[in-house]
Amino acid sequence: MCGIVGYVGTQQAAPILLDGLRRLEYRGYDSAGIAVCGDGRLNVRKTKGRLQALAEATHEGADLPGSLGIGHTRWATHGEPNDINAHPHVSRSGKIAVVHNGIIENYVMLREALQAKGYEFISQTDTEVVAQLLDYFYGSCGDIFEAVTQMIHTVEGAYALGIICSDFPDRLIAVRKEAPLLLGYGSDGNYIASDVTALIRHTRDVAYMEDGELAVLDGHGIRVYDRTLCPVHKERHHVDWDIDAAEKGGYPHFMLKEIFEQPRAIREATAARIRDGRVELEDLHMTPEEIRNIGKIYIVACGSSYHVGMVGKYNLERMLRRNVEVCLASEFRYSDPIVGPGDLVIVISQSGETLDTMAALREAKKRGARILSIVNVVGSSIARESDDVLYTWAGPEIAVATTKAYSTQMAVLNLLGLYFGDIMGTVSSELYHEVVQGMLALPDQMEEILAQPGTIHEAAKLFAGQESIFFIGRNLDYALSLEGSLKLKEISYIHSEAYAAGELKHGTISLVEEGTPVVAVGLYEPLFDKAMSNVVEVQARGAHVLALTTEQHREEMERRVPVVLTVPQTQQMLLPQLGVIPLQLLAYYIALERGCDIDKPRNLAKSVTVE
Ligand code: F6R
Repeated sequence: MCGIVGYVGTQQAAPILLDGLRRLEYRGYDSAGIAVCGDGRLNVRKTKGRLQALAEATHEGADLPGSLGIGHTRWATHGEPNDINAHPHVSRSGKIAVVHNGIIENYVMLREALQAKGYEFISQTDTEVVAQLLDYFYGSCGDIFEAVTQMIHTVEGAYALGIICSDFPDRLIAVRKEAPLLLGYGSDGNYIASDVTALIRHTRDVAYMEDGELAVLDGHGIRVYDRTLCPVHKERHHVDWDIDAAEKGGYPHFMLKEIFEQPRAIREATAARIRDGRVELEDLHMTPEEIRNIGKIYIVACGSSYHVGMVGKYNLERMLRRNVEVCLASEFRYSDPIVGPGDLVIVISQSGETLDTMAALREAKKRGARILSIVNVVGSSIARESDDVLYTWAGPEIAVATTKAYSTQMAVLNLLGLYFGDIMGTVSSELYHEVVQGMLALPDQMEEILAQPGTIHEAAKLFAGQESIFFIGRNLDYALSLEGSLKLKEISYIHSEAYAAGELKHGTISLVEEGTPVVAVGLYEPLFDKAMSNVVEVQARGAHVLALTTEQHREEMERRVPVVLTVPQTQQMLLPQLGVIPLQLLAYYIALERGCDIDKPRNLAKSVTVE
């Protein structure tokens, strides 16, 4: 959610920090700031609002000379977004500056204790406590490293911290506990960042910090220590993400680019895992015996990843002939879940850093369950804490609204269903073959849908002026409706709800009146007739229906509905993989027509690392 960048080396730090923060803009933020150490003192600039304001206020960093610095984009959690609450926070002496992601849980108590010692606080943040605490410890020991170690034994909560001190102008200190932070090894200096995207212009050699680790960087190298201050050897990873992959590549928005990347993403997520018609999950370390002995199966996730879980429930239950419970991570963690040894918890997360999902994972792990995660960001916290990880290989997803991550998560879950079903003996060879062939055909079918965006744009214009839109569907179409509705509301700000169509008569239909817009999803063949009845039902109350169905049912649907979007036919379980594309595009074009900030919708952030 918040972003951190830090640099120490031979170059001017401020332009590097600003560039890194720009790469992190997609994460969502409401203020930004940098602190640079030059001529033996700290220079700090902070601004509310867009990063551009900070760049202008510092003449692209030229006003802050020095080759040691830290930068931050803040998403307010404690105290409103303003220049004072923005990071970096500076100690009373003016010598120490701190940037922080996470939450210091005991900050109220610490603030009172420091106030009793004469410290004054100017911000409403929890982070300022860290700066003043460091000041206090540094005042008595005179060594910044020692002060940091005392500080981490005093604060409670989650933190990724970047710390500089003007008495040590060649040293950057980083600490991590339950908030992501990575180290970058460059040729003319070294870096810290909360997200690899901030670094790839400068270095591709990175190491991920673990909980409790403390790193000291200078221009020549990085030393890392564990909780007991023993040196730690860090394994370096080479990031081979294409720089272009983290840029817009000619599209007006990242979201549109990422929608169009889906055929490639699906191909990458599946093709390498299907050999000679068989699913091979080399990255899964479960033995056939362990798979056959799985007890209960849970899928745990948030937001769109949870919607993937909803589709997964239908498909896994079909392939495994056993109950699959899908849970919102934020509920699961507090539900005293009945999960234990032998059970499997499938955790789904694009970022691999979602705090609720992480907490649910830890809860399940504590109770002895096996954790299998489906994650996009390699080396992320969720990936590292799981027993098994299946990466989605979707590449960096920059737009806040997820698209290609959703699709690839679903593809990986379907592969997992086939793989388990085969070993458990619950999926017939016909079905297995049909799904595998269907999956291999998906990228080309997706290209077909993406070749006709104009039709969807025209449909979007009809709905763009609405204030409330309903989505209805049954079974897999219901699971898909949930995602279509979320996409629409998060980027267009139109109120929208998705309902299981059979539930309409139990209450919701009272909301349908003359002109009420309804998106009817009627892809799922076995229930197509039921979907048609629901279309008739809402039309009879005056609803304006937009329908999504398969090519095969186009004519029949067009006899009743004026605007019909279609997708090619595929195996039933794979229909949401195709159906989501028109719904993503519908949301995108409606938001475009309404002039919304599509890649950075208000109040939302890409990676939700707070509760
Ligand atoms: C919606 C969206 C969110 C995320 C949710 C979980 O477009 O992106 O609902 O799906 O915040 O995030 P991850 O998958 O990173 O755990």
